Amino acid sequence: MCGIVGYVGGQECAPILLDGLRRLEYRGYDSAGLAVHSRGKIDVLRAVGKLRNLEGKLREVPLAGTVGIGHTRWATHGRPSEVNAHPHQAGDVVVVHNGIIENHTALRKQLQASGCEIKSDTDTELVAHLVSRRVAGGLPLEESVRATLSELEGAYAIAVLSVKEPNRIIVAKKASPLVLGLGEGEMFCASDIPALLPYTRDMVFMEDGEMAVIEADKVTLSTVEGQPVEREAKRIDWSPMMAEKAGYKHFMLKEIFEQPRAIEDTLRGRLDREGGDIYGTEFELDVAEIKRVILLACGTSHHAAMAGRYYLEGLARIPTVVELASEFRGRDAVVLPGDLVIAVSQSGETLDTLIAAREAKEKGAKVLSIANVLGSAIPRMSDAVFYTHAGPEIGVASTKCFTTQLANLLMFSIWLGRRRDVLSAEKSAALVEGLARIPQQMAEALKGTRQLCANLARRYVEARDVLFLGRGLSFPIALEGALKLKEISYVHAEGYAAGEMKHGPIALIDSKVPVLVLLPKDEHYERSLSNLEEAKARDAQVIGIATEGDEEAREVSHNLVEIPASLPELTPFLTVIPLQLYSYYVADFKGTDVDQPRNLAKTVTVE
Ligand code: F6R
Repeated sequence: MCGIVGYVGGQECAPILLDGLRRLEYRGYDSAGLAVHSRGKIDVLRAVGKLRNLEGKLREVPLAGTVGIGHTRWATHGRPSEVNAHPHQAGDVVVVHNGIIENHTALRKQLQASGCEIKSDTDTELVAHLVSRRVAGGLPLEESVRATLSELEGAYAIAVLSVKEPNRIIVAKKASPLVLGLGEGEMFCASDIPALLPYTRDMVFMEDGEMAVIEADKVTLSTVEGQPVEREAKRIDWSPMMAEKAGYKHFMLKEIFEQPRAIEDTLRGRLDREGGDIYGTEFELDVAEIKRVILLACGTSHHAAMAGRYYLEGLARIPTVVELASEFRGRDAVVLPGDLVIAVSQSGETLDTLIAAREAKEKGAKVLSIANVLGSAIPRMSDAVFYTHAGPEIGVASTKCFTTQLANLLMFSIWLGRRRDVLSAEKSAALVEGLARIPQQMAEALKGTRQLCANLARRYVEARDVLFLGRGLSFPIALEGALKLKEISYVHAEGYAAGEMKHGPIALIDSKVPVLVLLPKDEHYERSLSNLEEAKARDAQVIGIATEGDEEAREVSHNLVEIPASLPELTPFLTVIPLQLYSYYVADFKGTDVDQPRNLAKTVTVE
């Protein structure tokens, strides 16, 4: 979604703001802009499209000054255009904003009725006018922003400048992320950590309903009501390199290859190999009280949640439902005493997941979240958090966060199964040992299948439709394979439960349709193999994803991709790899924008 960066200090700020915005490009955007205090005025520069367009303008009209704000916009109100791009200026005031002001129609009418000339279609410009009127009336900027916030409904992270107060930025946050960066004689703000990593590691995470005054030598936090807030800075140990491409052509490819490391970090300190168990002290859940689990998530995280249901039911024998967060929220879903909600979200900011979890909590459910972004909104509202440690995921298409979510869901299921006395010590120990081997096996799968997946992608790059089939735990993996291909290569793809083919989708199959069938050695193997034969009998090009040494699968498939042998529960970590690689290479051969596919955003904070 949109990105915000702000700087107050002694350096020329335009290059710092641009650099920060570039590090936020992964959030998806369609226009960008900067505003810089410059000798008694604020200069604003905006451009549609990529940051290089803004840079081009900056070369013609340099912005000189040491206090400023920058923004990348992902259109929500009004099409992408220069006039709708942020920053928005009204009188002496300039504003950038992430989120959506829900009462914008009423505010617009009210401003227009009082003679205000509104230039853009955005909700943000309205905020600029509301603050500007107060500043013009003699109120200090901080108080003007504070009073304006009380008129706003909806979600926002805003940063505000005023010509009258050239040494400060006022920021405020409600339901959109905002972090403050503390330097020596310089201070920063941003909508996400990577924007600030080259400048500082000491960061303060703002909470909903808070404001801050940012000056070169201090940041002053308060609630919107004006109560002072004290909060310690957190030291972030991500290196700037971790947020860069490290020699790979795309972030997505780098992140696919980072999976062994990401899983290792996620498993670190969790596997009790001696006891054949999982350490889970922070869960602090009364196991006897949990009667049912409701998994809530969107997109790829929803696929991880679907796999989580197999784990929770299979290993912890607990009734489990999986819900798309967008369908759960607002339908007045039944939440029963003893329900545990597990909200799964890479960003921890997905609005549908946040609201769905909040609704369930209000109805009495306990909430455990699985998230990757430290201090994000969903973890903050949860009773317990089980972080994945994938590091920043920059490619819009989720890869390493998906597999680390699987790891956490599996570990939680083992933990719960042991405490519910339904998972045997032997099985638990075998799973723990198997998990410990997974990073190494993923590395082998990456090495062993990369070239083959690239070749297959080259062979089938022109296919207009692709099917992915799987049963059991492989069904969510098939869905995930199809989603990856759709979102980055724009090829139509469907994931199906293999047993469902004969009920309709088989009519789609002809010689032009590649069908990827997941065939790990599990209890579904024989039946999945039959489904592959059915597709082949209808002239499909069949690609089997099977365990190494599986001669039967090799015989019947046109192409076979082999993955290392593992316990059935662990196969998703390995079968997903060739699907990620296949999608990546199809997209790369097609020349699409792999890391920032059209119409998509990394953090979806709109409904
Ligand atoms: C697809 C993808 C999205 C996200 C979805 C939820 O590759 O990344 O489908 O999974 O938008 O996002 P989070 O996990 O941040 O809640």
